[in-house]
Amino acid sequence: MDIFLSNFKNINVRAERVGDFFKHSLTPELLRSNPSKIYLEIGCGHGHWLCSFAQETDDVLFVGIDLITKRIEKANSKKIKRELNNIFFLKADAMEFLSLMPDSVKFSSCFLMYPDPWPKKRHHKRRIIQPEFLNLLADKSNEDCKLYFKTDHTEYFDWTLQTIKNSQHWNIQNYNWPFESDSYFQQLLPNHQFCSASKLD
Ligand SMILES: C[S@@+](CC[C@H](N)C(=O)[O-])C[C@H]1O[C@@H](n2cnc3c(N)ncnc32)[C@H](O)[C@@H]1O
Repeated sequence: MDIFLSNFKNINVRAERVGDFFKHSLTPELLRSNPSKIYLEIGCGHGHWLCSFAQETDDVLFVGIDLITKRIEKANSKKIKRELNNIFFLKADAMEFLSLMPDSVKFSSCFLMYPDPWPKKRHHKRRIIQPEFLNLLADKSNEDCKLYFKTDHTEYFDWTLQTIKNSQHWNIQNYNWPFESDSYFQQLLPNHQFCSASKLD
């Protein structure tokens, strides 16, 4: 069993952990640097792309979350090695993290790169892009929040476009990808499609 799950089996303990992340890591940095925006990457892996983005960008605080402990440990090593103060990583599930975060924090952009495609029909319910996810993300976002999605999996791409089109909270847009640098999976699987969306009022 993942060491994280054996240590944090209980939802109350995990909620406390997300609370601590905001209280002791994110909020002090928000107060110190007062960034104009907060960007979230869901499924950041070991932070390859997000650390490069953070390194090149001022006035934004970056948050990366991923389910896998080892990937978050690697991401944190990159942060330390590159002496980045504007990026924070947490091991967390996307829906749980969004539901537990304080209402005072709102994201300005959210990125999903090469999320697990769950190709079998009976596994589609495990995909991150779902109506409930889009509703929750809208609730945790600024008015002008942008959503960016990239995948090598054509069927998941079409699923995402359709799910966004069906959402009352998001509108498909043609934004350029805001930071061109390969993610780890993009290096392995360079053929991809991407889409973007803006939050509706
Ligand atoms: C295929 S990898 C892509 C990693 C990275 N974005 C890249 O492009 O190299 C998908 C990542 O999403 C993470 N992931 C899957 N489901 C998740 C969830 N519900 N919440 C957070 N992360 C999740 C996995 O642990 C994995 O690291």
